[in-house]
Amino acid sequence: MNKIKLFDPCITKQEEKQLLSALRSKHWASGAGSSLVNLFEKKFQEYTGAKTCVAVNNGTAALHLALSEANVSGNEVILPSLTFVSTAHAVLYNNGKVKFADIDPTTLCMDVDSVKKAITKRTRAFLPVHFGGMPADLISLETLASETNSALIDDAAHASGATLNGKKIGSIGTMSCFSFHPVKNLAMPTGGLVALNQKNFQQVRKTLLSRRWCGIADRKDVEYDVKELGWNFYMNEFSAAIGLAQLSTLDKLNKKRLNAAKRFYRELDVERKMPLNTDCVYHFYWILVKNRKQFRKKLSEIGIETGIHYKPVHKMSMYKTSVKLPITEKISQQIVTLPTHPNLTEEDLTKIIESVNKFC
Ligand SMILES: Cc1ncc(COP(=O)(O)O)c(C=O)c1O
Repeated sequence: MNKIKLFDPCITKQEEKQLLSALRSKHWASGAGSSLVNLFEKKFQEYTGAKTCVAVNNGTAALHLALSEANVSGNEVILPSLTFVSTAHAVLYNNGKVKFADIDPTTLCMDVDSVKKAITKRTRAFLPVHFGGMPADLISLETLASETNSALIDDAAHASGATLNGKKIGSIGTMSCFSFHPVKNLAMPTGGLVALNQKNFQQVRKTLLSRRWCGIADRKDVEYDVKELGWNFYMNEFSAAIGLAQLSTLDKLNKKRLNAAKRFYRELDVERKMPLNTDCVYHFYWILVKNRKQFRKKLSEIGIETGIHYKPVHKMSMYKTSVKLPITEKISQQIVTLPTHPNLTEEDLTKIIESVNKFC
């Protein structure tokens, strides 16, 4: 039986060629030699329309680094609970306090009214997640950020290539944090990036570059200084090599994801499903089902892999809180994620649709 995987990166000869060339260059760390990391930053900046970009070694590091520049220590960051745990960890890495807001029941992105209720004098940043590649309401959050003198930092781990009001995600708000984990729309062995949009982006870039490499600053030949604590968050040249090839086909591959979503939206006979939005890049496609355990087992038995995104962060032991998030709680008990990756054939999509309609 041919297994239909939930996630599956798309590779071509271009990735193989780029990878081999990075290998033969013998410059495997960034900073020296062929500078594929610098090139990737430049190409991603041009692609998104961000003011500048800082590449790092994963999406968690991107969030950690971006929040290090948002004055969150001892203050509060508002974020959704329906996300991967890194979104919340990044606040704690920076000694901030996590404040969960509920989600919108249609998009499953952070709900602006719930955010408004969570704002206090200590709010310093809003951290929405583009859930499944669906753009969060950055326009309303941008207004709230400017009213409260806070940063708008979006977790764009699912959203490489997504747009909002004609602008690419990565070019809106203060900073955007991308993940290029192998399951993501733009896949690398491991990688991430912070896209910067603030007015003083050049100065912030300099700070983030230093924190990305152990706090090293003012480097001239073998001379350098260390003025503050930094981390080792460098992206390596192999990741950048693959990323460059992936970036050149991103729009084409995202279009295939959209086509899968169109079929799911039109043909799935389920009560609640992910809306159709041509700005979304459909990292996955979610549906709600009541008998989730049984449903997933049935699909698995016929070779269709599904997922659960996510067990909410506020249900994890270390994040337990008394805050009430009724929509997050209800949805997280019923959500099932279906594959949308570009390796799926029309026959695969038909099999998924027929099986979901039979077992849901
Ligand atoms: C929403 C979200 N945020 C952050 C991350 C962290 O990215 P990485 O795995 O590259 O550290 C992920 C990755 O799974 C994610 O899905």
